[in-house]
Amino acid sequence: MTTDTSMRTRVLTGITTTGTPHLGNYVGAIRPTVQASRNPATQGFYFLADYHALIKCDEPARIQRSTLEIAASWIAAGLDPERVMFYRQSDIPEIPELTWLLTCVTGKGVLNRAHAYKASVDKNNTAGNDPDADVSVGLFMYPVLMGADILMFKAHKVPVGRDQIQHIEMARDMASSFNHLYGEHLVLPEAVIEESVALLPGLDGRKMSKSYDNTIPLFSSSAQMKKLISGIVTDSRAPGQAKDTKGSALFQIYQAFASAQETADLAKAYAQGIGWGDAKQILFERIDREVAPMRAQYEELIGNPGKVDALLLKGAAKARELATPFIQELRHAVGLRALSSSSHTQALEKTGRVAVPSFKQYREKDGQFYFKLVDTQSKVLLQSLGFTSPKDAGLAIGRLQQNTQTAITELGAQVVLGQGVDMATLLASIEALVSEMTEKAKSKG
Ligand code: TRP
Repeated sequence: MTTDTSMRTRVLTGITTTGTPHLGNYVGAIRPTVQASRNPATQGFYFLADYHALIKCDEPARIQRSTLEIAASWIAAGLDPERVMFYRQSDIPEIPELTWLLTCVTGKGVLNRAHAYKASVDKNNTAGNDPDADVSVGLFMYPVLMGADILMFKAHKVPVGRDQIQHIEMARDMASSFNHLYGEHLVLPEAVIEESVALLPGLDGRKMSKSYDNTIPLFSSSAQMKKLISGIVTDSRAPGQAKDTKGSALFQIYQAFASAQETADLAKAYAQGIGWGDAKQILFERIDREVAPMRAQYEELIGNPGKVDALLLKGAAKARELATPFIQELRHAVGLRALSSSSHTQALEKTGRVAVPSFKQYREKDGQFYFKLVDTQSKVLLQSLGFTSPKDAGLAIGRLQQNTQTAITELGAQVVLGQGVDMATLLASIEALVSEMTEKAKSKG
């Protein structure tokens, strides 16, 4: 069952390609994500958000380098591109296409309230500048592009930092608006905030972050890592004097790598007055023990960017197997469709005046359970083969209504188009049925 992609919970997250992965990224995102990606009940989608990078970075070489470094880091840290979808956002042309469809169902006022945009406006106002000075439309549209990333792959769960929760809520709103107008096509995602993951302090004790310039790169050489660690701020207590674990950046970083026992041991050493130099040596050795085995593969990939390209392109091809038919379905839903299908669909548009088709479930003499979709003239639009239980037949109908195109692909030979019925007609029929159901549910509720 769990090998069936459609049954698994889809977990998706993106990484903006503007920087070099540091220990904070490793502890806060890479390590937990790689671990979670091994859960057979989930299907992971992890991608390099390089279109998003363009919003804040206009240095082409840096974006290219960061993309390579991030991809190599994730692979070296154990992400298996065979079992997850690992791709580069800009290799999926369906994403910008969906961005446009979502742009057209997103209120401008909603985007006015996005934190990142508002922060820029507030800053301008305080400085007495034009409110939109130096604000690109890219920054303004950031949440829509992110919505497309998520909705394109029908993600259920999106692990993000707290600062991104608002974006996930906006993606939900976009999905609802779209579904309301065009039928149930998009899946409403949920943000997942990992509470247990520690925020790692940086060299100066503040949160480790590129913007504070206090980071320790995940894959610096051993010697460089040692040098950086020796620069972590401490207080001025001499060897022999008891040290506080509370508020000690060194201790917190150690804790993120060490076992409970190792952490307790270091706490004891603090109480007994370990010298800062010795404590730093212990921290260095502990981190190096975890990072060293990954370093060889990282360096191998960094030295062979073509390998990373190939791996990402393969990931994109896999992702597009889902994205290409889905964007087709969405284009059709909004009316970007073959003109020849218009005569059918016009009659089926959700004016409410036209009778819509219905699913009929029944049992045959062979003891199996069947269904068919018939129009008002009893013409068969879609016919199933036998299911062993009525529940399975019902589930298949549910999936067809949720997401017609994908369900048809997944049901495969289990369903057959009626004689002379084309796919566009079928899609339009089910769309009409679903929107009628939605309308009815609404007028009741
Ligand atoms: N905005 C996210 C960040 O800065 C990166 C991102 C882009 C993303 N698209 C996404 C995260 C889709 C989750 C889902 O962290």
